Amino acid sequence: MQAQIVRFDHQGQGIALVNNFVTFVPKTIPGDIVEIEIIETKKNYQKAKLIKIIKPASSRKEAFCPFYAACGGCDLQNLSYEATLEYKKNKVKDIFKREGINIEPILIKNPNPKNYRNKITLKVKNGQIGYYEKKTNTLTQITSCAIAKPILNEIMELLSKINIVSGEVVLRCNEKDKVLVIITSPDKLNLEILKNNPNVKGIILNNKLIEGTDYLEMMVNDLTFQVSFNAFFQVNSAVAKIMLELIRENVNEKAHVLDLYCGVGTLSLMAVSVASEVLGIEIVVSAINNAKINASKNNFNNAKFKVGKVEKIITNVPNNYDTWIVDPPRQGLDKKTRDVLLKYLPSKIIYVSCDSNTLARDLKELLAKYSLEKYYLLDMFSYTHHVECVCVLTLR
Ligand SMILES: C[S@@+](CC[C@H](N)C(=O)[O-])C[C@H]1O[C@@H](n2cnc3c(N)ncnc32)[C@H](O)[C@@H]1O
Repeated sequence: MQAQIVRFDHQGQGIALVNNFVTFVPKTIPGDIVEIEIIETKKNYQKAKLIKIIKPASSRKEAFCPFYAACGGCDLQNLSYEATLEYKKNKVKDIFKREGINIEPILIKNPNPKNYRNKITLKVKNGQIGYYEKKTNTLTQITSCAIAKPILNEIMELLSKINIVSGEVVLRCNEKDKVLVIITSPDKLNLEILKNNPNVKGIILNNKLIEGTDYLEMMVNDLTFQVSFNAFFQVNSAVAKIMLELIRENVNEKAHVLDLYCGVGTLSLMAVSVASEVLGIEIVVSAINNAKINASKNNFNNAKFKVGKVEKIITNVPNNYDTWIVDPPRQGLDKKTRDVLLKYLPSKIIYVSCDSNTLARDLKELLAKYSLEKYYLLDMFSYTHHVECVCVLTLR
C-alpha cells in the first residue's frame, strides 16, 4: 500500500494518514512517499512496516550507519543534524504546550554528534551480537555502532572471539579510552583476549569482578568521579560537561543544596563548588559509596550523601535547603516528592530530565508557585528521538 508521511510523532517515527487513520511508520520522515505494510491495527491507530521509499522527502539524508534500517538504536539518521535539532525543539514545545506551558528552549548542541556514547548495551543471541530492533526481542547483528565511542567499537570486535552464545554485554569507557566489560551470560567464556587488552580496565562477569577494577575514573571539567560498573553516569561526556557548567552557573553562592537522585554525585559536587553545602540522595548503594569517595577525592568536606529511595526518605529531610536539584529517572517525580516540594517551597529548583512528558506533567504542578526562568534543551542523545532538559524555576 502507498502512503505519504505527513508529520513526525514524538518517538521519531513518521505518521501517515491511511483512510484518515493514524498510521505509524518507523524510519520515515515527513514528505516521504512510501510503500508500507500494516502490521498491527488498534482502535485508534495502526502500525506499519516500511517496505520501500517510492519518493524520498527533499530533506531526507542517507544514514551514516550501515545497520540503521533494522537497528533499534537511532531513529533520526535520515535527517541532517540541524533538522534533528529542529525536530527535538518542536517535539518538546509541543509536549509542553499540551500542559499549557509556552516557552522557547535554549538549544545546546552536541559538539560531536557521532561516536559520542561512553556506554552501550549489546544483546547476544545464538552467538550473534547486536541491538534489539525497536520494542522487540529481535536481534540485529552489528559489528560497530556509529554513535558509540571508537574504543567501544574496537572492544566490540573482540567479543566475537570469547565464545559467548547468549546474554548481555555492557561496555563503558572513560575519556582515556579505558573500558569496563560487564557480561551477563550462562556460557563458559574464554576471556583471555579481553584480559590481555591494554584498554580493558576491568571485567565483571555475572556481577562479580574477575579482572582489574569494577569502576572507572571519569573526568568532567575540573572534577574526577569514580563510577562503579552498576552506577549511573551521563552517557555523553561532552554534553555532560556543558550540563555541569549550567548547574554551576545556576546555583547561587552560599546556597544550601539538596540533590535528589544524585548518582555518583556529579551534579552535587558541581553545585557545591559554589554552594555552602549539599546533601545527595540516591537508591544505588555503590553509587553512594562512589559519591562519598568523589567528595573526598575532589576535596569537598561540605557534601553529604544518603542511600535510599527518595520517595521514602523525603519526608524526613529537614526543610533546610533553599535549592533543590532533581534528576529523576524517566518516571519523573513521584506524588509524595512533589507534595513535599510544594510544602517546603525552596527558593530555586533545577529540574534535570530525560523525559519531556513527565517533566511537563511535574512542571505544570510546580508552576502554581514557581516561575520557569530558563529551559535548556541539550542534545545529549544525538540522532535518537531522546532529549535532555534542564529547567530552572524560582519561587514567585
Ligand atoms: C538520571 S540519573 C541521575 C544521576 C545523577 N544526577 C547524574 O547526573 O549522574 C537518575 C538516578 O536516580 C537513581 N534512582 C532511581 N530511582 C530512585 C529512587 N526511587 N530513589 C533514589 N534514587 C533513584 C538512579 O539509580 C540514578 O542514579
